[in-house]
Amino acid sequence: MEEIYLKPDNRTSSTNHRGRRSSKRSFCLVGILSLCLLGAFLLARLITFGISYHNCLHDSADHLPEIKKQLSSMTEERDLLTEKTKELRTLLCLSNQYKTCPVGWSKFNHRCYLQSERSDSWDAARKNCTDEEADLIVIDSPEEETFLSTIINEETWIGLNDKEQEGTWRWVDGTPPTLMYWASSQPDDGGVEDCAYVRNHGKNSWMDFRCSASFHWICEKTLNCKKTCSGGWSEFNCSCYIRSQSSGSWDAARKDCRDRGADLVVVDSPEEQTFLSMITTKRVWLGLTDEEQEGTWKWVDGTPLTLSYWGSTQPDNGGEEDCAHVYSGEDMTMNDCSCSTSLKWICEKAPDYCIVS
Ligand SMILES: *[C@@H]1O[C@H](CO)[C@@H](O)[C@H](O)[C@H]1NC(C)=O
Ligand SMILES: *[C@@H]1O[C@H](CO)[C@@H](O)[C@H](O)[C@H]1NC(C)=O
Repeated sequence: MEEIYLKPDNRTSSTNHRGRRSSKRSFCLVGILSLCLLGAFLLARLITFGISYHNCLHDSADHLPEIKKQLSSMTEERDLLTEKTKELRTLLCLSNQYKTCPVGWSKFNHRCYLQSERSDSWDAARKNCTDEEADLIVIDSPEEETFLSTIINEETWIGLNDKEQEGTWRWVDGTPPTLMYWASSQPDDGGVEDCAYVRNHGKNSWMDFRCSASFHWICEKTLNCKKTCSGGWSEFNCSCYIRSQSSGSWDAARKDCRDRGADLVVVDSPEEQTFLSMITTKRVWLGLTDEEQEGTWKWVDGTPLTLSYWGSTQPDNGGEEDCAHVYSGEDMTMNDCSCSTSLKWICEKAPDYCIVS
């Protein structure tokens, strides 16, 4: 599979697209601007909070509940900001600016198309498409039919058949056809012609035929926004990971991750646990702690620990052990340990770039 990294600036643009692109850009700008405003607002809140906290020190402990309340409302605001940032990233991802088709595929109206070089049966053709994470072409607009008629110049399978029930035509995605472009007096079946192909260049040239015949075909897939990681970070299941070079306490580890726009790793599937063992041969900190309440382990993203891989007899809180790490090598089990221990760590973050798979 080809992976294409796209930088927004590298795109060649035609005048046709400028209006759309600039409206997208202004849309992004609005998003970024509102994030900035939210950030400034939070900063102001932080300063106010700092001043009131300072004043409080001179007052008395009476204000403690008030401070706690403020702190929790700020935590909420921070979480909201994080959430908004994620949303903005997703929107950027969905905008066409970040999308393209894999190498060799043609792009038309948010979809990618690939014409086969050889001929084969309808089933083999379909298998080839699904192996390419696509399917045979489904024609669901007059524009798409026009597009198709301009690119083909020989018999070409399309994703339409009536194999299941004679006379009831279905697209490969299960939908009944809403638009049909049969050639005159087609489909004529004869009881054995269950697959549809396009006869030639030009409109209204759908024909039904024996599925075992050998024709070219066209695969189609939607532009999917997939995300990937910048240099040095490894990708797994749409997250990016990096292992630290240096060692440090759990707090230092977390600070380093946050400085990189990430956080300590949160493990939420057995596959991710296995993946970790591939990117480290050292003991590493996880984003898991029971500092807040002894015995209640929580991930740094606030989720409780559900899937756990504690080593036998762990966690044992042997002499105040509030932070979790994994052992190295084959035995990637978890252990609790004093948060001031010096270990390496793994940061995890959402991907930066988008590619099409
Ligand atoms: C699908 O067929 C094309 C030839 O048209 C070939 O290049 C490609 O490798 C095939 N893909 C798979 C997954 O078999
Ligand atoms: C991938 O991430 C999703 C969402 O976080 C999760 O539900 C799923 O279990 C993960 N899959 C694997 C294989 O780790």
